[in-house]
Amino acid sequence: GKVAVMMGGHSAEREVSLKSGQAVLTALRSLGINASAFDPAEQPLQQLLNEQYDRVFIALHGRGGEDGSIQGALQTLQIPYTGSGILGCALAMDKVRTKQIWQALGLPLAESVSVEPQQISSIDSVDILRRLGGRVIVKPANEGSSIGMSVANSVEQLTQALEMAFNYDQQVLIERWIVGQEYTVGLLAEQALPVIRLQTTHEFYDFAAKYQAQDTEYHCPSGLSTADETTLQQLALKAFNALGCKGWGRIDAMRDEHGGWYLLEANAVPGMTEKSLVPMAARANGDSFAALVEKILAQTLE
Ligand code: DAL
Ligand code: MG
Repeated sequence: GKVAVMMGGHSAEREVSLKSGQAVLTALRSLGINASAFDPAEQPLQQLLNEQYDRVFIALHGRGGEDGSIQGALQTLQIPYTGSGILGCALAMDKVRTKQIWQALGLPLAESVSVEPQQISSIDSVDILRRLGGRVIVKPANEGSSIGMSVANSVEQLTQALEMAFNYDQQVLIERWIVGQEYTVGLLAEQALPVIRLQTTHEFYDFAAKYQAQDTEYHCPSGLSTADETTLQQLALKAFNALGCKGWGRIDAMRDEHGGWYLLEANAVPGMTEKSLVPMAARANGDSFAALVEKILAQTLE
């Protein structure tokens, strides 16, 4: 059958998506699959029907691609697509609601508060900073690749951080800063892949550390004990399933100096660039990039 690789789109992660999509397209072609690029920012979805695509590999990141909207459109057109459905995508895109669900299930999280623009003039920054341990990370609720995120440890910095985050979204999360190590867990076909530990020289794993820096370190094996690795993998699977995510994805987490776990967020369409994490974890599991792409496609929702 014919596969459309959806890439690009309108989100702030458009450039990352074009890289993910190109890598996926190349892999599909290397597998002998008839695949073409499809940018929903440039083509009406009707084209998919006109050109008789059998399925869609979604390599779109961020809003409009990873948030359930394109998934809903494809479902309406009755074209099978990779990864999570409408609900899983919509929830995973929203860090505030993701955390509400995880919290309700007793999964471990960093404490946080969420704010909307109309609350800005009335929020008590001193109190928020004190309650969250004096140092916080501020995140747009619906964004990816660390876009719009910054760290604050004073009222002035918090004001600036909120202003920056509100450029990207109408809902912003102020989260306790966790001192510790950062980990990520890829999920594929109901199973957790080997854990990767990330080490950055940047203050956090920001956009530059993700896509530009040469000195970001990726450790896989993660260096965790077998028991701890299993604990994190099980947490990640629970967290993924709790949101109704399917097929493949990635859960990001941290571990503090006392060994406590904190789930950060879910990604319904993780990066598939050469530097991306799920491909790295799959490789550690013995799967080439092309083999990973094939497995994701095989998980397509019908
Ligand atoms: N949002 C980026 C693409 C990721 O999760 O890898
Ligand atoms: Mg993300």
